[in-house]
Amino acid sequence: MIDKNQNRRDFIKNLALTGSVAALAASPWLSVLADNSITKGPNEQIQIAVIGTGDRGKQLIRHLFEIPGKPNFKLLAICDNFQLHLDNTLELLKEHNCSPKTYTNHLQLLENEKLDAVIIATPLHQHAQIAINCMQSGIHVFCEKAMARNLEDIKRMYDTHIQQNRILQIGHQRLFNPVYLEGMQRIHNGDLGTIGQIRAYWHRNNNWRRSLPNNDKSLERKINWRLYKEYSAGLLTELLSHQIQVAIWALQKTPISVMGTGSIRFWKDGREVNDNIALIYSFEDGTQFVYDSMTSNKKYGLEEQIMGHKGTIEFEVNRQYSETPPAAPGIQQLINNVEHGLFDNLPIGGSSWVPETASKYKGEPIVKTNDLGDTTLELEAFLKFVRAGSAPEKITKEGYNASIWTILGEQAINTGEQLHMPSEFIL
Ligand SMILES: NC(=O)c1ccc[n+]([C@@H]2O[C@H](COP(=O)([O-])OP(=O)(O)OC[C@H]3O[C@@H](n4cnc5c(N)ncnc54)[C@H](O)[C@@H]3O)[C@@H](O)[C@H]2O)c1
Repeated sequence: MIDKNQNRRDFIKNLALTGSVAALAASPWLSVLADNSITKGPNEQIQIAVIGTGDRGKQLIRHLFEIPGKPNFKLLAICDNFQLHLDNTLELLKEHNCSPKTYTNHLQLLENEKLDAVIIATPLHQHAQIAINCMQSGIHVFCEKAMARNLEDIKRMYDTHIQQNRILQIGHQRLFNPVYLEGMQRIHNGDLGTIGQIRAYWHRNNNWRRSLPNNDKSLERKINWRLYKEYSAGLLTELLSHQIQVAIWALQKTPISVMGTGSIRFWKDGREVNDNIALIYSFEDGTQFVYDSMTSNKKYGLEEQIMGHKGTIEFEVNRQYSETPPAAPGIQQLINNVEHGLFDNLPIGGSSWVPETASKYKGEPIVKTNDLGDTTLELEAFLKFVRAGSAPEKITKEGYNASIWTILGEQAINTGEQLHMPSEFIL
């Protein structure tokens, strides 16, 4: 049987060893992840708390306990201002023989516990104040994406991380996903040639609502915070923020402008955030990042398509396509002709068909097995950073730039203008 953990170790190590200088500079956290000699204080237990124990907080806790090699940490406390979620989390933790202290206010948590690190998974509008309070108390922070609800809070978080010299890692788990790590290495090695456009989308067909405990209507805004502007920018901060991070990582540069449009087209149910959005981000060299998201059709699902003059990568389906695919061998051509007949319709414009063989070109997988969970890897990396006392600065900048351009996207939609980054937010 293949040892999944050994596979994972070998894979990461190999990427860290074989990457070009450009590729390693684009993903410097890879070297930290591959380094198993980070032994500073190996016997010292890392003391952690999780603030916000809703859906994502619970998932992160599960992943913490799945990190291979059982890193030496203790989940000392959990904090949530909703008792039901604290209770559910304590229940979940029983299987790990873990019974952390509970808090309903993060300031009391900070006052009473001696912590090395916190994981923050509260709704977006709470991230900034909690993260800043933690860093000012000398604690390293892993905070879920996006960073904050407005540009000023994003910058305040970043500045506090610099002033306090504390780690600030934002929960963009694709940064640790083996498919993305391998694909990005190819992109940064130049395998796709010149990238002219990146297209990304995230389509769903549901109302994006969560049911209210005991059907208690007074909990609507607390439970469905994503649907209200005070707490969230909806599809932008929840979904686009992941995918613009991928675009910025691929291109190794930030946009210079964004324009966009959006509306509540379908779910006219009292929500305040748009249920469909479309945006175009432009880069100085002329590259564009074209994005759309909607919640009333799921046919196309989600994808990030990185399109260069030599090839294309589609990360979500783990595929790379060459612009000059190998021709099918003669016998294959014959089989294809028989199977498809000569009367197969070619799509207008041709797209990915190779007309002379009538075989659909399906590209090649980027990685062969993809059983290496990215959320576990991002938490493993965070613990390593905490042990080492620092993280590559680029990891914070990935979160920062993705978050800033997400909020600028929201402003572009709201104003109908093409917006540029205000100079005070340029790092
Ligand atoms: N990386 C990912 O793929 C991913 C996936 C889902 C959610 N998220 C992010 O995780 C965060 C949480 O999302 P969720 O779906 O778990 O939301 P949720 O509503 O299920 O959970 C949020 C929790 O925070 C608690 N909370 C609110 N204010 C608090 C405060 N001041 N102090 C302590 N606890 C407080 C709530 O009671 C709730 O239990 C969001 O930022 C979201 O964008 C990330």
